[in-house]
Amino acid sequence: MTARIIPVSLFDLVVFGATGDLAFRKLLPALYYRDRDGQIPDGSRILGVSRRCMPLETYLEEVEATLRHQVPQGYLDPGCLARFLGRIRYYVCEIGQPDTLRPLAAALADGGDRVRVFYFATSPDLFGQASRDVDALGLVTDKSRVVLEKPIGHDLVSANAVNNEVGAVFGENQIFRIDHYLGKETVQNLMALRFANFLFEPLWNAAHIDHVQISVAETIGAEGRGDYYDRAGAMRDMVQNHILQLLCLVAMEPPTRFEPDFVRDEKLKVLRALKPITVADSVTRTVRGQYRAGAINGSPAASYPDEVGVPHSDTETFVALKVEVETWRWSGVPFFLRTGKRMPVRATEIVIQFRTIPHSIFLPSAGPISANKLIVRLQPDEGMRLSLMVKDPGPGGMRLRQDSLNLSFAETFRMRYPDAYERLLMDVVRGNPTLFMRRDEVEAAWRWVDPIIAAWQERGDSPRPYTAGSWGPSASVGLIVRDSRTWHEDGQ
Ligand code: BG6
Repeated sequence: MTARIIPVSLFDLVVFGATGDLAFRKLLPALYYRDRDGQIPDGSRILGVSRRCMPLETYLEEVEATLRHQVPQGYLDPGCLARFLGRIRYYVCEIGQPDTLRPLAAALADGGDRVRVFYFATSPDLFGQASRDVDALGLVTDKSRVVLEKPIGHDLVSANAVNNEVGAVFGENQIFRIDHYLGKETVQNLMALRFANFLFEPLWNAAHIDHVQISVAETIGAEGRGDYYDRAGAMRDMVQNHILQLLCLVAMEPPTRFEPDFVRDEKLKVLRALKPITVADSVTRTVRGQYRAGAINGSPAASYPDEVGVPHSDTETFVALKVEVETWRWSGVPFFLRTGKRMPVRATEIVIQFRTIPHSIFLPSAGPISANKLIVRLQPDEGMRLSLMVKDPGPGGMRLRQDSLNLSFAETFRMRYPDAYERLLMDVVRGNPTLFMRRDEVEAAWRWVDPIIAAWQERGDSPRPYTAGSWGPSASVGLIVRDSRTWHEDGQ
């Protein structure tokens, strides 16, 4: 199976934070793959910007080493690598000192009237200043776009400030706020599942769905990002963006068209319909956790405070929530959300639990009848599974058992699954913001999340300890069992 490659326009991509973790781990490999597949037009350039003083040759050596480490041998042919490295330039600049950007400005001027992308892979505190700097040098053209990495702000007030500062230089249609979950193939598949099939949509409501679970479990810990993570925590790092975006895609009404504002309008309505969690609710509807020393797959894992070097850290590395979407479609259907670091396995999945049948025609000897479940597996082993009741084959009368229709994308499509950033970077060049967050979405998400964090502070709710390699604090089980439901057990 081969993917269809749609070439994009000639572009210059300026990466602020070109020596950072994101650039090396995600952006450069993603661009390499797009180049290797022939999607990047000849003459397009990647202009790295950082404060680290080094000649271009040293930067290129670092990029090459990263690619050799991250890209499997079979994808690394010397011709492609040389062509890709040939696109890269490097500039030593200091955000806040626009004069240091002059060599970059001269290079951009040489590029003429092509698409110009400014990717701010820096701390959000610098987004405003970096915007003012490129503006001061007259670098923002009609064909310019700016990409902002999450988190946008730390709360609603700071998100507004960032959006205002960037918005003073770039129009909203030029601002691309990345939530890389939206670029994941299976997340886009969720829209295909719901809106390209007749089967599910008539059942996609409170009359037929008992509850929904969204779980994002990671085995990794803070991974050297302790400075950032200890100020953020799981609520700001994962729930405010990735998990709420997944919830939106599950819960939204069908957009009229698969076009940017049609999709984003529907997601926004979901965010605005989330029932606020009050201080009192936060006792029964939320659980915060923090990992202690343990082991994952037999390897020892340090406790979170030891890992980040903050002995009395009050930051949560696990969150579980019971959420309600106050709409006609979802009235009375709880959404259980949970995310945690240092879980026993890496698994991101959405479970749609249908209601039990209203009446069984079978004798009790046929066995119990379980409700159907649709499981959308985002990673790893991307795919979808629909659990059904079937007759146990062979003699012995009517005996029922549960089995699954299983669609494994790896087996079905036999192709390399592109990383989310590959798709998203090309969408920025195309100017297609469908898979990016609009300003009002980011703000609506903060508006719902802020009071939960405030409630934890007001109650002095310290995160509950859990052992690294477990499924979080036992209170997370309590949260769902209280509602007579259980967490889906796949992989557990
Ligand atoms: C990032 C978070 O946005 O997403 C990280 O900051 C997290 O803490 C990561 O590990 C998870 O992304 P993925 O694609 O590996 O699920």
